[in-house]
Amino acid sequence: MKKTARAHTNIALIKYWGKRDETLFLPTNSSLSITLDQFYTDTSVEFDETLDQDTFTLNNQPVSETERMKISRFLDKVRTFTGETRFCRVESINHVPTAAGFASSASGFSALAAASVKAAGTEATLEELSILARQGSGSASRSVYGGFVEWQMGEREDGLDSYAKQILPEGTFDVSVLSVEVSTEQKKILSREGMKRTVETSPFYQGWLDTVGEDLTHIKDAILHQDFTRMGEILEYNALKMHATTLGANPPFLYWQSATLKVMEEVQAMREKGLECYFTIDAGPNVKVITTPKAEKEIEKKLKSIDVVKEIYPCRVGPGISYID
Ligand code: ADP
Ligand code: DP6
Ligand code: CO
Repeated sequence: MKKTARAHTNIALIKYWGKRDETLFLPTNSSLSITLDQFYTDTSVEFDETLDQDTFTLNNQPVSETERMKISRFLDKVRTFTGETRFCRVESINHVPTAAGFASSASGFSALAAASVKAAGTEATLEELSILARQGSGSASRSVYGGFVEWQMGEREDGLDSYAKQILPEGTFDVSVLSVEVSTEQKKILSREGMKRTVETSPFYQGWLDTVGEDLTHIKDAILHQDFTRMGEILEYNALKMHATTLGANPPFLYWQSATLKVMEEVQAMREKGLECYFTIDAGPNVKVITTPKAEKEIEKKLKSIDVVKEIYPCRVGPGISYID
């Protein structure tokens, strides 16, 4: 039984940055994101008793042995959950750049969790899928749902209370996310290593932990009241604070490039002229500009005129997991 699932990426407005348990992917803080409608992964899974190991192709190419092992370790968790004992064939297509700060790990593991559970013939709740997807990549726990999504960190050591929940469905609060590409090169420091090094060595990390909870409470209130300005101010503040922690890590690092700064400056300049928009940045040099559908076109035009900008992908709030066959 071959099953195919589609999951969209998400962009965090309050960042997940740090793990308290690396094996179970338990975070040190709760986070909040918007699921994006334009970037997604389609993954097909078929269990087969003739296989003697899991196989994985990404964009029709076999991956390295290290990558295959990473996927296979995740599939072991799926086998434990479903009781399935066979190995499987996985084919995945990313309609998003891979490992470049566009959250391919979020759509990738969310789609893999959904497709593999279905292919094993098991029914799972969205909470269970979120818990599973989390154990492939933390941000994937949020891509199970559409709309505005909160991943509650939970308190339990077994991680059974660490899953995402939808706080506002798509189609309720219409925001526009302009995904501004300055580079699609694969990052040198993956999110996983970046957050680990920060947790272990950055003296600024405690400041992050002390304040991220308040940011989340305030932004949730702003979202529930559909207060765009307040949401924008908090998300930009939270993104800058996350990136500040990496500067204190040892060895220090920064995901930004000079092109990243140019886009950030333009966003602040547009805002001063009354065009409302705010930026956020994940673990990579690309910038996501959050604006209103009304201002979207004019802001897109201004951003396009920056020489270092390669491409702009206008996104809206997207849906949760779906099954293709
Ligand atoms: P990104 O910003 O793209 O999320 P990360 O460093 O978080 O970058 O994650 C990149 C990793 O996610 C890849 O090295 C790979 O292990 C995993 N990944 C990406 N796409 C997929 C996919 N379609 N299926 C499974 N895993 C994927
Ligand atoms: C900066 O979910 O990619 O994008 O759990 O190690 O796979 P792993 O990391 P990942 O980290 C995302 C970090 C971030 C912020 C966010 O998406 O919340
Ligand atoms: Co990622």
